[in-house]
Amino acid sequence: MFASSGCGSCHTLDGASASGQIGPNLDQIKPTYATVLRQVAGGGNGMPSFRRKLSGDAMRAVARFVSTSAARSPAPPRFRPDRRTPADCAVDFACLKQAYGNIAFYQGPETALERLDRAQRASQAIAGFCHQITHEIGHAALARYDGDSAKALGHGTMTCWSGYYHGVVERAFVLPPASRIGPISAEERNAVMDRSPVKGVYDKTIDRESAYEKLANRAAVSAGGVAPAPPGNGSNAGGGILDSLKGSLGGLMTGSGRKDSLVEAMAKSAVRTMGSTVGREIVRGVLGSLLGGRRR
Ligand code: HEC
Repeated sequence: MFASSGCGSCHTLDGASASGQIGPNLDQIKPTYATVLRQVAGGGNGMPSFRRKLSGDAMRAVARFVSTSAARSPAPPRFRPDRRTPADCAVDFACLKQAYGNIAFYQGPETALERLDRAQRASQAIAGFCHQITHEIGHAALARYDGDSAKALGHGTMTCWSGYYHGVVERAFVLPPASRIGPISAEERNAVMDRSPVKGVYDKTIDRESAYEKLANRAAVSAGGVAPAPPGNGSNAGGGILDSLKGSLGGLMTGSGRKDSLVEAMAKSAVRTMGSTVGREIVRGVLGSLLGGRRR
């Protein structure tokens, strides 16, 4: 599929014995499945979209093949300088990449980028390759500065859509296309959630009645005859305790005035126990975090 779709005329991918030089080397950028699928369907920046030519199944098959095959190929070799210059290359693209890389390696990336910029203004052919050549200048700069990407980035320019920076970053961090900076959009979030194996399982918020709520209710009912409003979750837990205390106290105060019945006494003791257990937990938690000790 990779071969029959012509990907190999633009891309290098060992697994398909392809050595195209127009687009990025797929063995080196190691795109994820999602990245390949997006790029094949959408195209962009010099790559045609394949949406009209390939079915959805075919695009997914290509994406699977490219992502697994690229992941298996070894990490990219360091840039290795030789003695070629742009004048030796005419419009041989692989040669030009090496030649401009050489300039960056020996004379610094600024010089290489400036010469490339002049050449691409003079030659349509070189203009077409310019972005990819700047990638190679980035790789060469990284070799020149011994892998110090901060230094390499400091010596760049925006020539040909910032390809230089892409080049430095794709080598220095190996997998830039898989990471991103900034928040995702609502659509992307939905797409991720749709793909999730637990889709639908945790979507509804369930507020079960806790043992505490049950006991507090039972205690309040038997003590005062009036069920307190169920305590809210978390932040209102204190209100729950107060409510149930009030409920039981209210029952006692408005009662017939006789001494506590057995049930009332039990209810009061239950509320007291719960209150103090919760209180103890809170105190222990606060002290625990202050003192850095373990909770239990
Ligand atoms: C006409 C040349 C051409 C063909 C054919 C082509 N590509 Fe590309 N491709 C490019 C160029 C140029 C880029 C660089 C785009 C950029 O810098 O954003 C690219 C980028 C990519 C990327 C990187 C996307 C990213 O965001 O990092 C992937 C993956 C890719 N192509 C896969 C494919 C596959 C798979 C096929 C075959 C179905 C294919 N390409 C066919 C030229 C081509």
